Amino acid sequence: MDTYCLLNNEYKKTSEPLLKVNDLGLLRGYGVFDFFPIQGNHPVFFNDYWNRFRNSALQMRLPFEWEYDPFMTRLYELMDKNNRADGYCRLLLTGGYTNTGFLPDGPANFLVITQGPVPYIEENYTRGIKLITMQYTREHPHIKSINYMTVLLERDRIRNEDATDVLYLSEANITESSRSNFFIIDEKGILKTPQHDILGGITRSKVLELAQDFMEVEVTDLTLEDVKKARSAFITSTTKGIMPVTKIDDFSINESQISPVIHQLQKALKDLVNQHLDELNS
Ligand SMILES: Cc1ncc(COP(=O)(O)O)c(C=O)c1O
Repeated sequence: MDTYCLLNNEYKKTSEPLLKVNDLGLLRGYGVFDFFPIQGNHPVFFNDYWNRFRNSALQMRLPFEWEYDPFMTRLYELMDKNNRADGYCRLLLTGGYTNTGFLPDGPANFLVITQGPVPYIEENYTRGIKLITMQYTREHPHIKSINYMTVLLERDRIRNEDATDVLYLSEANITESSRSNFFIIDEKGILKTPQHDILGGITRSKVLELAQDFMEVEVTDLTLEDVKKARSAFITSTTKGIMPVTKIDDFSINESQISPVIHQLQKALKDLVNQHLDELNS
């Protein structure tokens, strides 16, 4: 079966060439994207992802002229055409075509691509993962840009050190991982997550909202010293959900114990998604 995508609102086969070679995403890495789940024939928390995508585009000074409702109709059509009841959808907006090789000479190019589920590694949840630290502050951290160069440069080191990902530090402050936000449950049981130089993760915002019902929450500066004293740590992202972090560089967090609060938060997030899907189905 052919898989389709949308390029500037028109259906195209993904097996065929789509963008021309003078697209600014390709030539200059100028573009933004977003990525959201599809579950039970519905986009999950689409409103949140759409708003972040729109804000990324505007902050990147890319023209954004798509309306929510007509786009939603198109999205359901695309999911249907691709028989995609579960998986993910990527929205990608590039700077468009350039004649000079630098400045855009036309409208932005807007691609919508669906894909299947991302494989799930159970051990990451039962044993927790290791992150390795590095100094780096993402350029324009609030924008979900297509530039993931820094972590790609680290991919051999990540594999050699038996880690799953990096943990970015901005001077002494922890910011985020390469594609997820970072949290700790501190020695007093308070949930803490960094406040500056991060992407506003949709999963992060849901976790912050849910946690307020059963624990104290602080959005604050965090250092590695705070993590060394913590009861537990975890990362959040659209594909990973809530994933425990038990090791950072060469230290284990609380002897690699995974706090029961993490399981409580995982359940609360799952319930929230199910409640959202029930609302969409009613
Ligand atoms: C830099 C960065 N931070 C955080 C996240 C997590 O965001 P979300 O929960 O919306 O997936 C991502 C997701 O790709 C990311 O790229």
